[in-house]
Amino acid sequence: MKSYKNKVFKLRQKIFYHNYLYHTLYAPMISDEKYDCLIRELQVLEEKYNLSVNTNSPTQKIGATIQRSCKLFSHLTPMLSLDNTFNINDYLKFEKKIKNILNIKDPIEICCELKIDGLALNLIYKEGKLINAVTRGDGQFGEDVTNNAIRMNTIPLVLKGKNIPYLMEIRGEVFIKNSDFLSFNQEFGVKKEKLFSNPRNVAAGSLRHNRSSTIIKRKLMFYAYGYNVIKGKDEVNNHYGKLQILKKWGLFIDNHTVLCTNVKEVSLFYYKIEKKRSLLDFNIDGIVLKINSVKFQKILGDSNRFPIWAIAVKFKSFEKITKVLHVDFQIGRTGIVTPVARVKPVEISGVIISNVSLHSKNKIDKIGLSVGDDVTVCRSGDVIPKIINVVKLNADTKRNNITFPKNCPICMYKIIQKKKDGHFYCSGGFNCIGQRKKAFYHFFSKKALNVQGLGYKLIDLLVDNDYVKNPVDFFQLKINELIKLDRIGVKSAKNILRSLNKSRSVVLSKVIYAFGIYGIGLTTAMLLSYYFKYLKKLIYVNQSDLLKIKGLGPTVSKNVYDFFHDNKKINFLSALEKELDIYPDGDHKFNIVNNDIFLSNKTIVITGFFNELSREKLIKRIEYLGGRVVNSISKKVNLIIVGKNPGLKLNRAKDMRIEEIYNIDFLLH
Ligand code: IVH
Repeated sequence: MKSYKNKVFKLRQKIFYHNYLYHTLYAPMISDEKYDCLIRELQVLEEKYNLSVNTNSPTQKIGATIQRSCKLFSHLTPMLSLDNTFNINDYLKFEKKIKNILNIKDPIEICCELKIDGLALNLIYKEGKLINAVTRGDGQFGEDVTNNAIRMNTIPLVLKGKNIPYLMEIRGEVFIKNSDFLSFNQEFGVKKEKLFSNPRNVAAGSLRHNRSSTIIKRKLMFYAYGYNVIKGKDEVNNHYGKLQILKKWGLFIDNHTVLCTNVKEVSLFYYKIEKKRSLLDFNIDGIVLKINSVKFQKILGDSNRFPIWAIAVKFKSFEKITKVLHVDFQIGRTGIVTPVARVKPVEISGVIISNVSLHSKNKIDKIGLSVGDDVTVCRSGDVIPKIINVVKLNADTKRNNITFPKNCPICMYKIIQKKKDGHFYCSGGFNCIGQRKKAFYHFFSKKALNVQGLGYKLIDLLVDNDYVKNPVDFFQLKINELIKLDRIGVKSAKNILRSLNKSRSVVLSKVIYAFGIYGIGLTTAMLLSYYFKYLKKLIYVNQSDLLKIKGLGPTVSKNVYDFFHDNKKINFLSALEKELDIYPDGDHKFNIVNNDIFLSNKTIVITGFFNELSREKLIKRIEYLGGRVVNSISKKVNLIIVGKNPGLKLNRAKDMRIEEIYNIDFLLH
């Protein structure tokens, strides 16, 4: 009994986390396929055990919480998502279900469209004039991006033509063409600035941030895929007709859309588009099938998450063939040697792939790879490039030509193969500049000490100039030393020191995570932090204590023990303790899932009321999660949680740019 509840709980948390990565940070870590599997697994469990599925389950929700500190807009009608499948044969099931509900046997008209891979935008037009442009957000509240949207060439500020309803929402997808994406990247590449990772991120970034370039905004595309009339008349009674009238009003629509009436036509459309996909100048991730009749759409209605009258049929991630030119070896933070294939650059869904990690010797052996082979490359989960298989062997007879180096290419220390995991490691430890740099990147990274402005380049510069030998040295840097470095002026030196100072006050879990102990991610770091509370206790930890911690396996325990019982670290750890102001984590389960909405040690103001929780309970939850609730806005306040009918506190908070949180789902678990 208990174990399935626990499983459901964990699954829900996991899905919320991935929602958050996808919808809020626009940085998914898993593929759509995997995400859908998680949702289905949860649905099955909820059904099987007849769990009361309240609105807190991700199976009942659309997105995640909204990016913070933005102007929020409450949608006039919810912005739903689409039900989806990866198999075109499921169309028959969809059609059967629809016909059952409608109680009809005749063929039914289906409007088939492309599913563009961008981000949804809601345009509100009053008397034909654009008054607001809002992102989807969590489906209820979106971000008001009107100021950016008005700079887009594809969004008309005033509609043209006839029969324009008094008040309506026009919905569609914002994206950037692959060719524009590539040329922006080329330009940025030449300027040696950070490259954009993919077209969707560029579109999301430039739509949502005021500071991004206007040139990019002009190039952003908006293709409309529907509208809702809020006030006024709508004389069009079918979806296809709605698209045509949108075009007349001056909006852009995709011109692949067709009407079909049977499974054969729908499948043909699917296969035709799948084939054409790589030739399009924008990314699509599937097709969308919509019941054409508006009357039927109304009868069918919506579920909590999506309309019953539409379904997306998604495509598998892209694959391309390219050649392995040579293999380099990179040294990781723990000294692990990772082979990286340098491949002939190839573009996959708008991203140029030239490096592909091969992970380990095992992986190389498994696919039987040699330099010079032609290989199939995909972006797993549409993000990380991966070699799937060898399609053509190189002409050389000499196979197995990928041999691991005997010495570290950076520090020349010996490379050894560890028995426990079969991986190769550089034995140089902190003597290896490669390992040291990587350890520093990790130590100051976002999830660890989160020192803004201390990126790869600066760390490289500091290490190469011998300014820093261990993390403590960073906190002892002086402004007059820093300005001696290339390209560091007084202003940036001050900023670096300011960020470093800011990071001194930090929760224990982040410090433990920052150490980069093998096998210790943020979750395990939190487990340790809850148990030991103070770094001192960890420094003197014994093995039996570690074994008492539930969820900590023997190997990880040993790694922790070894890390803290290394004599060479004693001085470093006590020096670090002096530099930092480390405080215990709150008793906060949810931190593990969503560490960005970290309540521990935050000062919080509440305004308005909440259907889900009484004020008293809300305060208790916040305190339980490590936060402190105060009554009035002051400089000390970190967050304001906003309910219905917020009071004047919200205005003050806005003036003081205090982070606003509107969605309290994460407090309800
Ligand atoms: S209809 C209520 N049509 O896909 C139905 N959505 O996974 C709302 N999308 O958030 C969507 N192309 O941003 C629809 N032709 C299309 C689409 C489309 C892309 C996006 C849309 C939605 C997401 C759902």
